[in-house]
Amino acid sequence: MFFALGMGALIMVGCTAADKVTKNILNQEEVMAKMSLEDKAHFVIGTGMAGFSGDDAVIGATKNLVPGAAGTTYPLDSLGIPAIVLADGPAGLRIDATREGDSATYYCTHFPIGTLLASTWNTQLVEEVGQAIGEEVKEYGADVLLAPALNIMRNPLCGRNFEYYSEDPVVAGKTASAYIKGVQKNDVGTSIKHFAANNQETNRMNTDAHISQRALREIYLKGFEIAIKESKPWTVMTSYNYINGIYTSESKDLVQTILRDEWGYEGTVMTDWFGGKDGAKQMWAGNDMLQPGKKEQFDSIVAGVKSGKLDEADLDRNVQRILNLVEKSPRFQGYQYSNKPDLKTHAAITRQSAAEGMVLMKNGQGGEQSSNEKALPFKENVKNVALYGCTSYDFIAGGTGSGNVNHAYVVSLLDGLKNGGYTVSDELKTAYEKYIDDSKEAQKKAIEEMAKKDKQAAMLARFMPGTLPAEKQFSTEELTAQAEASDIAIITIGRISGEFLDRKAADFNLNTSERLLIQQVCDVYHKAGKQVVVLLNIGGVIETASWKDMPDAILCAWQAGQEGGNSVVDVLSGKQSPSGKFTMSWPVNFTDAYSSRNFPIDQDPKIDMLNQGQKGNVRNVDYTDYEEDIYVGYRYFDSFEVPVSYPFGFGLSYTTFEYSDAKIAQKNDIYDVTVTVKNTGSQEGKEVVELYISAPDNKAANKPAKELKAFAKTKLLKPGESQTLTLSITAADLASFDEAASAWVVAEGEYQFLVGASSQDIKATLTANAKSQTTKANDVMKPQAPINLLKR
Ligand code: BGC
Repeated sequence: MFFALGMGALIMVGCTAADKVTKNILNQEEVMAKMSLEDKAHFVIGTGMAGFSGDDAVIGATKNLVPGAAGTTYPLDSLGIPAIVLADGPAGLRIDATREGDSATYYCTHFPIGTLLASTWNTQLVEEVGQAIGEEVKEYGADVLLAPALNIMRNPLCGRNFEYYSEDPVVAGKTASAYIKGVQKNDVGTSIKHFAANNQETNRMNTDAHISQRALREIYLKGFEIAIKESKPWTVMTSYNYINGIYTSESKDLVQTILRDEWGYEGTVMTDWFGGKDGAKQMWAGNDMLQPGKKEQFDSIVAGVKSGKLDEADLDRNVQRILNLVEKSPRFQGYQYSNKPDLKTHAAITRQSAAEGMVLMKNGQGGEQSSNEKALPFKENVKNVALYGCTSYDFIAGGTGSGNVNHAYVVSLLDGLKNGGYTVSDELKTAYEKYIDDSKEAQKKAIEEMAKKDKQAAMLARFMPGTLPAEKQFSTEELTAQAEASDIAIITIGRISGEFLDRKAADFNLNTSERLLIQQVCDVYHKAGKQVVVLLNIGGVIETASWKDMPDAILCAWQAGQEGGNSVVDVLSGKQSPSGKFTMSWPVNFTDAYSSRNFPIDQDPKIDMLNQGQKGNVRNVDYTDYEEDIYVGYRYFDSFEVPVSYPFGFGLSYTTFEYSDAKIAQKNDIYDVTVTVKNTGSQEGKEVVELYISAPDNKAANKPAKELKAFAKTKLLKPGESQTLTLSITAADLASFDEAASAWVVAEGEYQFLVGASSQDIKATLTANAKSQTTKANDVMKPQAPINLLKR
């Protein structure tokens, strides 16, 4: 049966036997036959971005579909092809909250940042969060969410680490996979990004990542491989950078040979916004869609086909893949969205998920200055809380840039404590609120002044992380009086980061005002017999080694979304026992991470919105040598025995766990490791169990001392309760990438299977043998010149 649906005569309505749901089916052959070369060239680029795309932008036609969305595909009305809406991602849907001439609001739930979600190590929970985000995508009329983002946290200072999951590809891949499955349960799409090696923001559109084939395969592509194979995202977004001299969006080796031929990906590939330079080359490579589209790209594609530089069949193939995407979209399927997602339920989901990803770093473990007594959860007698640190009052929900969400509210720590029935010092509140208002006013004025001189710079400044005020200081007398009037002190240390900018080295360290505040509050409160908790409201790792002895407890709350204050109080009060663990190492000094030798520290960010710059020759700005090779994060610290402040996989609980009965069973190519975890403390809690492998003769073979291969989390265990977990891996998971053979190779011999509570807290060591195994891969994406690689 054919049915017009107001979109022309090319839509067929049928009934698929599988789901018995009426489905609009697109007659692709007929559509393709009717498309002119110009139609095709339009169709493979987006509809432009106001003020950025040149005269050809048709943004007027589509910008009102869902205002504030990042872009749309190109509509071909006469052929019945609607524009579908692409919107950011990843901490929630990013669209405008208000619309001109419309009194309704379109707020979206601000969920926790990606780093926090990964820190839950709870893929089921991540899937639930994804499902809730997907419902907002669908009910607000968007079709594809531009998320998740899963670049490797190569260095602590990458400005977008907050969006990313981990320094480890298995954690990143499994977390992304769960997120994608959750979102796509709503029959909307995702765009896994940024493919690949978008590991710095400095000069992000023109920087060339020089990476060995092995590190690419084992570290930078592995997470994508896991997520793409497991969860089939509707789209993949290529990154801005070059890898080994070729833009990722212009790399057939990446987008066709590896992604499609080796991994079997069947979806659509799009660029990041204004990414890549040569439209015709991008088409040839199989980067199907160029977003948000520029006139030059259109011209280059049309000219390419006319001159024979671009085979029209390549263009047709890309057109077809975009048609597949459009066909699946809610908009094409005629979904009647409500503009009324279930925000109330989602607020509860974000609150609960955020609490689960917080990491308890210290709790009365002594140290030179802190007490041995556990400060958390708050004892019965804790009623009055003295709250320090600007961010306690102005909680940071997430990072800035495209990863931001236009939320209706953010529950600050102040509000969270009040909601939890605690009393907060009014005197401190009044003083802080005035201090914060004055500082915001000063920032606003500075941007207004900037706008008078340079409109675009001012627009960018609004999009970028602002600066947080220096911490307010108090006299000893003031602090003494406050300590007397309260039962406990909390100091929040905040950090804001975001797109376009890498963090500065100074941002890793505490500044003088923060250090003084911690020191003075700890001194005075400890003298008064009161405890101090430091809360970290941050999006990336900071320095802790020099001050962690001072407070009695430290909780990393990350940037926990719009319910952040409530989530923190759920943990502080003991309503929810913390069960998050770090998905990255916390170096003692920022320079301890080997990658810091090859990272743009405090460099000019070189922001280039439209990719008009040229490839220069400044080290770490125009190109970056990934000299640490595969030794990223704990693969470096643990293999080279470099001390860290907190290891990968670390996180405390209010209770304690005992591991027993660790066993390994090997059947054919599957290794099943089982371990029983018992809650031996007096509070409920969940435990994350990590499975690492250590290859035979790993040092001689230049392999890491250990590599995470699987993880699992217990259910909520009551005191005395046990659970047996099974962690399974396959023989193929034991492989390393052998460049000389262009293959994944499993070395024959005895492997250690390490069952750990962190990368440095191994509870059981098991062994099993593996036979040698070789799986050929394509010899592609080679560095153009040798890199001075770190070896064990
Ligand atoms: C970001 C992407 C984002 C896109 C659309 C780019 O600047 O890198 O992550 O999806 O903008 O907003």
